Amino acid sequence: MFLPYARQSIDESDLKAVQEALKEDLITRGPPVAEFEKAIAEFCGARFAVAFSSGTTALMGAFFAAGTSPYDQVYSSPNTYIASVGIPVQMGIRPRLVDIDRSNGNIDLELLEKELETPFSRGKPIIVPVHFSGIAVDMRKLDKMIKHPDAVVIEDAAHAIGSAYPSGEKVGSCAYSQMTIFSFHPAKTITAGEGGMVTTNDENLYHRLQLYRDNGIERAAPHLQQPSALGYYEVSAITGNFNLTSFQAALGLSQFKRLDKFVDQRRKLIKKYRSLLIDVTHIQLFSEEYDERSAYHLFVVQIDFAAYRTTRENVMRALKERGVGTQVHYIPLYRHPVLKMLDDYSEFPKAEQYYARALSLPLYYDLTENDVERVCQELINLLRI
Ligand SMILES: Cc1ncc(COP(=O)(O)O)c(C=O)c1O
Repeated sequence: MFLPYARQSIDESDLKAVQEALKEDLITRGPPVAEFEKAIAEFCGARFAVAFSSGTTALMGAFFAAGTSPYDQVYSSPNTYIASVGIPVQMGIRPRLVDIDRSNGNIDLELLEKELETPFSRGKPIIVPVHFSGIAVDMRKLDKMIKHPDAVVIEDAAHAIGSAYPSGEKVGSCAYSQMTIFSFHPAKTITAGEGGMVTTNDENLYHRLQLYRDNGIERAAPHLQQPSALGYYEVSAITGNFNLTSFQAALGLSQFKRLDKFVDQRRKLIKKYRSLLIDVTHIQLFSEEYDERSAYHLFVVQIDFAAYRTTRENVMRALKERGVGTQVHYIPLYRHPVLKMLDDYSEFPKAEQYYARALSLPLYYDLTENDVERVCQELINLLRI
């Protein structure tokens, strides 16, 4: 049986939830959307949550809500998906990417602190920490570095539903940020088919997120310029339609009910991987210190392919032939042509070392410990040929 690097787990209760939602009069923007939002907000300990059609559109909504302007400075990690900085790039902002910590794949906070000390004359800093693979950035530490009064922090927690910071709060609580986004793509810990969510504790941001999701339409006082009336609305911004359908929300909610189970199984599998790979030379794993508080979305290993006289491509191809799917998370953002950033990558020695070695091995709820043994055996056999 082929083992992909990631896979959704759909059971009878999910099918039933979607079927029920499809029998309702409203199959989009209906009660399941609000129920899903309420469940995520309560779980994270945030006041508000707004569902979106994807993690990408959730990020777009967050940048809109933050009032992003071309003069702002955006700080993030190169080890992420383009959506983390997509809107700023579209506005012509070249994000300031900060090198990573190879023990967890996240932004290096000491380097970020130095970056934040560099003054700039217009606009505000927007900081986008990415909780890579499910390991949460130390947000309390990050918060203490911020001096600019108008700074905005948008957490990209696409990988991290169910994780917690070292200080104990849940990711999504926005204890140290203005907004946090999640993704419910099928590769993630819970899925809605496609889907995303933004959590916030700020009422004004909550309003702007809803506005963005729904074509900039205002329907109620005090946001209307004219008196409110039945059927009356005003368009106050040009945005788009980024709603989640009711049946997707019903799937998300049904999956959310099994989040603890999903996270426990992923932790068990990570433990198994660790036991099998910990003593293999030229393979580095993320530090174990994060395991207890992380809801892992990915299991990334760093392999010194050159030391084994092979390449990542050869290993990926051979594993695929043997029924094991793998993936690379991520090609560093500064390497993509759209960012037109650099002629050389010397500013990012750690991201470069990481990228040369990174390989994501299968991790999902229906994977078994026997499957993990098979993956490790295939990998070790291949490397030692
Ligand atoms: C770090 C990160 N941010 C944002 C996204 C965007 O989420 P979606 O695929 O739901 O649009 C992803 C999805 O892969 C991601 O991995």
